[in-house]
Amino acid sequence: MKDFIAGLPKCELHLHIEGTLEPELKFELAARNGLELPYATVEEMRAAYTFDSLSSFLTIYYEGMRVLRTEPDFYDLAMAYLRRAAEQNVRYAEIFFDPQAHTSRGVPFDVVIRGLRRALLDAHAQLGVRAQLIMCFLRDFQAEYAMATLLESLPYKEWIVGVGLDSDEKGNPPAKFAAVYERARQEGYLLTMHCDVDQDDAIEHIRQAVEEIGVDRIDHGVNILEDQRLVEVVLARGTGLTCCPVSNGYVTDSMKAEGIRKLMDLGVRVTVNSDDPAYFAAYVQENIEALHDALQLSREELARLQRNAFEITWLPRHVKDAYLTEIDAYLS
Ligand code: ADE
Ligand code: ZN
Repeated sequence: MKDFIAGLPKCELHLHIEGTLEPELKFELAARNGLELPYATVEEMRAAYTFDSLSSFLTIYYEGMRVLRTEPDFYDLAMAYLRRAAEQNVRYAEIFFDPQAHTSRGVPFDVVIRGLRRALLDAHAQLGVRAQLIMCFLRDFQAEYAMATLLESLPYKEWIVGVGLDSDEKGNPPAKFAAVYERARQEGYLLTMHCDVDQDDAIEHIRQAVEEIGVDRIDHGVNILEDQRLVEVVLARGTGLTCCPVSNGYVTDSMKAEGIRKLMDLGVRVTVNSDDPAYFAAYVQENIEALHDALQLSREELARLQRNAFEITWLPRHVKDAYLTEIDAYLS
């Protein structure tokens, strides 16, 4: 099964590019930018990755990305991820980036997006892996800052397929960003947002995301199983859920494998993704393997997870169909 999973054409839809910053690259960028790190070695740094909740993870995540300063830094970050993705037979990725995590510490928006965009173009040409960018707003900052970031992104609209919402969900419901999302929709961006696992008011947040904001996808969202009516709404709309089993195991009490199984059985378009692989020590392949170890999925079920993913991508129909044909060919 490990070989079967390795060869399966894959799609990654929940991946924070800043969460792919491996300790080795952190040291390299720190040296390049003349910065001191609070760890002497890669091993010491990894040993400090001791989070057990979303907020304890986020503290280490934001601290780590301070080494990202220049356009080549963002290029190298994205290129390193895309190389690993290509090795795991990821055919297509929609990649989150957090511009406010950089602009808030003085790194200009255009430095971030130009570096990422250049890597996406080179990776497509050199590695055959295709990717698009999703710009996330940080929900623990004010809505006005998100709106300013949205306006700042408009000259680069052709390089950004949609918007997302991430960071600390506690006390930061989707409705806080209703006006930002409305404007993003008017500007032609597609819409997703995090409804992280086992958060306070999880169901109310999912309800707002689906019914008030009208998102196309939900990132995580497994708590939807607690509300039959909302499950029916996402089934009727074909809304996708981008789940991240290994990440769930770090920030909650479990991978939520049974929940993912239930969503599959109900026919919800659920997918398996890696979230922040450099911190959770699992890229998409290891996430699929972990879910398979828990659920003993059949080949057809493993392929269905990838079909779900390509189906809910923000790609034109004929491009989706070409990837779906690759999966059919692989299965047969
Ligand atoms: N930022 C990076 N990873 C995140 C996650 N899993 N939830 C919320 N914000 C994030
Ligand atoms: Zn995430």
